[in-house]
Amino acid sequence: MSDKVYPVPAEWAERAYINADQYRELYERSVSDPEGFWSDAGKRLEWIKPYSRAKNTSFQPGNVDIRWFEDGTLNVSANCIDRHLATRGDQVAIIWEGDNPNESETITYRQLSERVQRFANVLKKHGVKKGDRVTIYLPMIPEAAYAMLACTRIGAVHSIVFGGFSPDSLQNRIEDAESSVIITADEGLRGGKPVPLKKNADAALAKCTGDKKMLVVRRTGNPVAWTPGRDLWLHEELESVSGECPPEEIGAEDPLFVLYTSGSTGKPKGVVHTTGGYLLYASMTHQYVFDYHDGDIYWCTADVGWVTGHSYIVYGPLANGATTLMFEGVPTYPSASRFWDVVDKWKVSIFYTAPTAIRSLMGAGDDLVKRSSRSSLRLLGSVGEPINPEAWEWYYNVVGEGRCPIVDTWWQTETGGIMISPLPGATDLKPGSGTKPFFGVQPALVDDKGQLLEGEAQGNLVILDSWPGQSRTIYKDHDRFEKTYFSAYPGMYFSGDGCRRDADGYYWITGRVDDVINVSGHRMGTAEVESALVSHPKVAEAAVVGYPHDLKGQGIYCYITLIIGENGDDGLKKDLVAHVRREIGPIASPDLIQFSPGLPKTRSGKIMRRILRKIAEDDFGNLGDTSTLADPAVVDELITNRQNKRGAA
Ligand code: WTA
Repeated sequence: MSDKVYPVPAEWAERAYINADQYRELYERSVSDPEGFWSDAGKRLEWIKPYSRAKNTSFQPGNVDIRWFEDGTLNVSANCIDRHLATRGDQVAIIWEGDNPNESETITYRQLSERVQRFANVLKKHGVKKGDRVTIYLPMIPEAAYAMLACTRIGAVHSIVFGGFSPDSLQNRIEDAESSVIITADEGLRGGKPVPLKKNADAALAKCTGDKKMLVVRRTGNPVAWTPGRDLWLHEELESVSGECPPEEIGAEDPLFVLYTSGSTGKPKGVVHTTGGYLLYASMTHQYVFDYHDGDIYWCTADVGWVTGHSYIVYGPLANGATTLMFEGVPTYPSASRFWDVVDKWKVSIFYTAPTAIRSLMGAGDDLVKRSSRSSLRLLGSVGEPINPEAWEWYYNVVGEGRCPIVDTWWQTETGGIMISPLPGATDLKPGSGTKPFFGVQPALVDDKGQLLEGEAQGNLVILDSWPGQSRTIYKDHDRFEKTYFSAYPGMYFSGDGCRRDADGYYWITGRVDDVINVSGHRMGTAEVESALVSHPKVAEAAVVGYPHDLKGQGIYCYITLIIGENGDDGLKKDLVAHVRREIGPIASPDLIQFSPGLPKTRSGKIMRRILRKIAEDDFGNLGDTSTLADPAVVDELITNRQNKRGAA
């Protein structure tokens, strides 16, 4: 925690859309008159049929039902493209910066329009209709944005799977979404190395049932296996269709996309976002949080495989007619100056990244930053995990040279857009705090019994009423939606995060309080990693917890009990790491594996993760109550093992 305060600079208070007084006024109206506030705000979109009412939502147990602008109709691609053509057809919509610094492309709104319409016609040609799901497994190339927008053009629902997921993870997501069309590329390219996307997609489809088509973008041109009749080159298909595809009329509450994300239990769940409220919220938060003005060059370094890429590379910026930069590569290739070189190359003015990247570049040394100019930068952003004050100060002083406010934005896949964040012209900054809620967002803290906490307090972060960007359901499982988010504290949306509120009413996210961990800003369920581990023939039982990791924020700590007669050695550890990478993907690689003859369990057989977390954190003095353990000796053994290993390391 840091007690420093950075007041809003005078020029920001003057030129930003929202200053402190306007924030107070608008926020007050947004919560006292949500209907009026959002009815007005909804006008920022272009509707085919206007809505007659903004809000119709209920968080009541057994009847969670969230609808916004429900009788309105619109088309997302028309909002992100067509309506800009008259005024900014020749303005660059997307700047694409390749993995290789010599490869780049700029795409104007007019070009985007042509390419998206043609792409949409290819989908139509292969039978994709309104409401059908399309799985997208692409690298960070412009075709990813074309594919998303092409789906929205015809009302198809996209499900993007991050390229770092394994064939098995991809297969599960294709099957759950029941997609019959999969869009991928021959290969991706990251840090100079190819990523075998088509090969992974082939392996995934080999295990899927039903008729599928695979549309393949030629990215690297290296040879790939081909299944005639199923596989289609996108560039060939594009030649066979017309360049005109009028936008479908879509209901505000029709689904826009499904995005799978990890929870505390079971398989990843398909978070569903709908059309009107989501787009409005993404667009409005993008404009005000980043204070986006015409002429800004805006760069969010996320991948479109995550929600940040959906809302803040594609939908928010394009709905606002912005210029958005899309980066294919990694922050450290060809050198750890890459981010800053790209900032200079394209004169980026707004830069939005994750604490894990900031920490790793901070570790690479100031010289790598200082050899760039960065004079174009005026605002910095952070997302994905709590940012530690040291990293914040470095980002502020070294990257931003003390002249760029930092917006530390707290939100989630389920929230659709930014929920708690400074507005740069309105909010004094405190390093490490997400500060204050966005318009219409009513955060609150509750204790474990669900009692609301007032004033300065620490507790579980809940949101008291609906906002337009909120997810509406879990795909095909509304019951799980209600149970996951609305049953812990009935009548409130529970975020799964812990949080502190200080005397100034500033919010400080402390991290997840459930069995979700956040590794390099990637969200992961410990249950998923456990289930991958126990599927290994030598593993009897596994318990996975997060532990503090200098660069990643949290690392993956695995306690493993082997089946009788098996020996835990370094060879088996390597084998287990490879196994998890195969099952889930490289992003789930275990950082530490500890073999143990037993795990701490209650007498009813429940693993006491609280104790395992403390041991992983080396916090042996705070194990809490161990009297309910079936066999307390297990804990001593785990601690001795952990200490021995640290001694050896
Ligand atoms: C964490 C990413 C602290 C949090 C947009 C949340 C953060 C989870 C912040 C959602 C932040 C995200 N400060 N923690 N600024 N932003 N988180 O769904 O634990 O991938 O619940 O969405 O990331 O991760 P998700």
